[in-house]
Amino acid sequence: MAGMEAVYMGVQIVLLVGLIFGSIYGRRLQMYWHHRLIYTVMLGELIVFLLWMGPGVLYYSGQGLITTILALHITVGSLSAISTAVLAYTFLKRRNRYDLPTLRWTRPLMIFTLFVWILAFTLGTIFYVQTYL
Ligand code: HEM
Repeated sequence: MAGMEAVYMGVQIVLLVGLIFGSIYGRRLQMYWHHRLIYTVMLGELIVFLLWMGPGVLYYSGQGLITTILALHITVGSLSAISTAVLAYTFLKRRNRYDLPTLRWTRPLMIFTLFVWILAFTLGTIFYVQTYL
């Protein structure tokens, strides 16, 4: 739908701000806000994916319009979606969520997810600027 791309771009910016603040709270061990922000961002991104980017993949591949930037975006975005899903599954499944062995391997994965998320956002923004502006 015409004009919707700007709405989704705006939502992505809000989600990125939420992700950055959520990460800062995590780094400061303020878990109440870390969990609330990160789970909200995860859910928000899932909704954007289902409403916009998922259908976008089908549309652009059907038209043969997958540019290098979009292909890179889809690759990096999928990587971030997979690591996000692994983290969400791990923490939601465990009763004792904060045991040290779990945190030892999830911490680097959380940092990795933050970086690939920012990279996916950057590539998505380049695609948005190239395509819509
Ligand atoms: C952390 C994960 C992701 C972030 C932060 C992100 C961010 C963005 C941004 C900022 C845009 C441009 C604005 C917009 O059109 O909404 C975009 C577009 C797009 N993204 Fe993602 N994205 C992510 C994951 C994915 C994944 C996993 C896929 C596909 C498997 C994907 C496919 C697309 C497509 C096809 C578009 C173009 C949509 C269109 O304009 O019709 N993205 N993304």
